[in-house]
Formats: sequence, structure tokens, C-alpha cells
Amino acid sequence: MSFVHIAHLTKRFGGHTAVGDVSFDVPRGSTLALLGPSGCGKTTILRCLAGLETPDAGIIEIGGNRVFDKVRNVDLMPEKRELGIVFQSYAVWPHMTVAENVAFPLKVRGMGAAERLARASKMLETVGLKGFESRSATLVSGGQQQRIALARALVHEPRLVLFDEALSNLDAQLREQMRLELRLLQERLGFTAIYVTHDQAEAFGLADTVVLMNHGTIETSGPARAVFARPATAFVARFFGMNVLDARMIGPVAGTPYVDVALNDRVTVRGIAGDGLDTNPGKTVLACIRKESVRADRVACDGALPGTIEAMSFLGVAEEYIVDISGVSLRATQPAAGFKRGDAVHAVMLSDDWIVLP
Ligand SMILES: Nc1ncnc2c1ncn2[C@@H]1O[C@H](COP(=O)(O)OP(=O)(O)OP(=O)(O)O)[C@@H](O)[C@H]1O
Ligand SMILES: [Mg+2]
Repeated sequence: MSFVHIAHLTKRFGGHTAVGDVSFDVPRGSTLALLGPSGCGKTTILRCLAGLETPDAGIIEIGGNRVFDKVRNVDLMPEKRELGIVFQSYAVWPHMTVAENVAFPLKVRGMGAAERLARASKMLETVGLKGFESRSATLVSGGQQQRIALARALVHEPRLVLFDEALSNLDAQLREQMRLELRLLQERLGFTAIYVTHDQAEAFGLADTVVLMNHGTIETSGPARAVFARPATAFVARFFGMNVLDARMIGPVAGTPYVDVALNDRVTVRGIAGDGLDTNPGKTVLACIRKESVRADRVACDGALPGTIEAMSFLGVAEEYIVDISGVSLRATQPAAGFKRGDAVHAVMLSDDWIVLP
């Protein structure tokens, strides 16, 4: 059953459409990630949901309650929408103690001092900050401030929590740890979450469903694994950092889901035909493959294409190479193999890893 229902949401700023006719549902207790490049409208959608921005059209329902409906003139006040928000800037109040910060939403709701401090303590324990209650909120680290903001968003037990780039100020290790902790917290507390990020690893690490935005509209959406495995459009493929190459259709391979395409007059590859692909010979198409699906090898094997290392960069656990294959440049990410510029290699790629898009 869906807990959040958004239909035909539109928000314009002056002549600019920040969000254009966006619809999606979030099942109860699940996490949806709003993913996309800077300026694509992610924060605007969250602000519309929270009641901090008034949409120009559309319907928003939370827990079966219609909180916004342009046509019926419904627009519930933010504090009536019963949700928690965690922003990128922690917005921890410096003049309060840690416990006062966390207890604040309960104070606003008129809860007595003893009970709200007891609840704040319990929530601080949940986010791993037991014992920090009376500390000044500014005398803790950035990661701890982020947890305070999280505790404050969860303390009144909202059924919906909105996160806007909530972990992006943390160092890589803490971010990964918090990602796991958030998942566990959600399982324990059972809230529904919408998580805004431009970081694909974060979206996949946290969300059941991913909505990828492009210029205020939904480019693709679906279960996280499906969205990643089968990029629906060239925009998606580029956003996920795949190799996206101009190609010319040779034709379908009869009785299979494959097509053959030419990358230039010397290099031909076989790949899976994407949705809506025109397989007429000569058509201009795009051939896409993940960097991780291209491997440069010292020795030749069946189907490998001979090439030369054009450039390399060391990434720590992996190396990224640019491999020139008869005039076609492909990026490959693989465990460090120590290749240098000019080395002759063989590029191994599978037909199942190539996807050909219109
Ligand atoms: N208050 C505002 N007035 C005018 N334009 C705005 C306002 N808020 C957002 N915009 C514009 O709307 C578009 C969407 O902005 P939004 O903040 O939703 O993007 P975003 O996806 O959250 O980006 P980022 O990843 O950089 O945070 C942008 O072009 C932005 O400049
Ligand atoms: Mg934003």
C-alpha cells in the first residue's frame, strides 16, 4: 500500500519549471531515493511535500490524507503534515544542549519537560549518542551534529522522514556507517522515507525504489536493481558513468535479443537491444557499456579486441584505463593491473554487457 502519493506535481519559479508533472508513490515503510544532477528539482519536490513550497498543480497525499490539492484548494500547514526532515546543513541550534535540540519538536507539540527529555535521551541512545545530553550542541563533531539532526527529525516518531543530502557533509567512512545505521533504524522504527541525493551509491545503498530526475521530470524509475542494471535512456547511462558511444545499426541477430552495431568502420560489437530501438540498418544509435564491464588483459582470448592503453589513473583499489580499440576510446575500471600508456592489451567485453539505445 502506498504511504506517499504524488500526482502531476508541478512547481514553477517565474518562467522556470522546476518540477513538471511528476508522479510517484512510496509504499509504506520503504525508502524512495530521488536521484539526479544538480538543479533537477529534487529539493523542490521535498519542499512541496513538507508544505514549505506551494505547488502550481498536482495532488499530494501522506498516509491517505490529502495534504495538497490544487483543484480542491487543499493546502495543509507544514506542522500538520506530521513529517520529519533532515537537511544537508544540520541546522543544529548552537544555543541549546544536545538534548534540548532533540527535544525541541516535542516542546513545540506541547509535551511536558520531563517526558520530552526522557524521549530525547532514548532517541539519542538510538543514534549512538548516549551520554551527550547536556553537552553544548556546538561542542560535538560534524558527524555527531548530523546524528543530532537525525534524532531531532525522528523524536516525534513521524511516519514519514525526508532527507535532503543528509549525509553528504560526512567523511566517506562515516557516511557508509550512517547509511547502514539509517537502514537499521528504519527497520526498527518503521517509518517511510524519501531520500534526496545526487550520489548514486547513496541512492542504491539506501533505497528500495529509485526515481532518477532530469530537468524537473522523471527520466526513469523502478526498483533500485532494475534501474541500475538496465539503463532506460542515454541520460541514465551517462548519469551512471557508463561508456556511451555513437554507433551505426548493422541489424538484429535473428531469433535473439541482440543487435550488431558498428562503432566505426573497423570495430563492430554485439549488444542487447534496448526498448524502442529502431533496428533498421544504417540507423544512428548509442552503444553503452559500464566501465566495470570492460577489462584490459595481457593475453588474447575468444572475442577480445586488440587495443592500446591511452591513459591510466590510479584509484586505490582499482585502476581506470582509457583503451584505444582501432580508433574507439573505451574507459575500463578494473583491479590494478599495472598497465602503462602505450601497452598493447586485449579488451574483453561481453555481448550481455553492451546495451544499444535509440
Ligand atoms: N526559490 C527559488 N526561486 C527561483 N528558482 C528556484 C528556487 N528554488 C529552486 N529554484 C530553481 O529550481 C530548479 C530546481 O532546484 P532544486 O533546488 O529543486 O534542485 P536540486 O535537484 O535539489 O539541486 P541540488 O542537487 O543542486 O540541490 C533549479 O533550476 C533552481 O535554480
Ligand atoms: Mg537540492
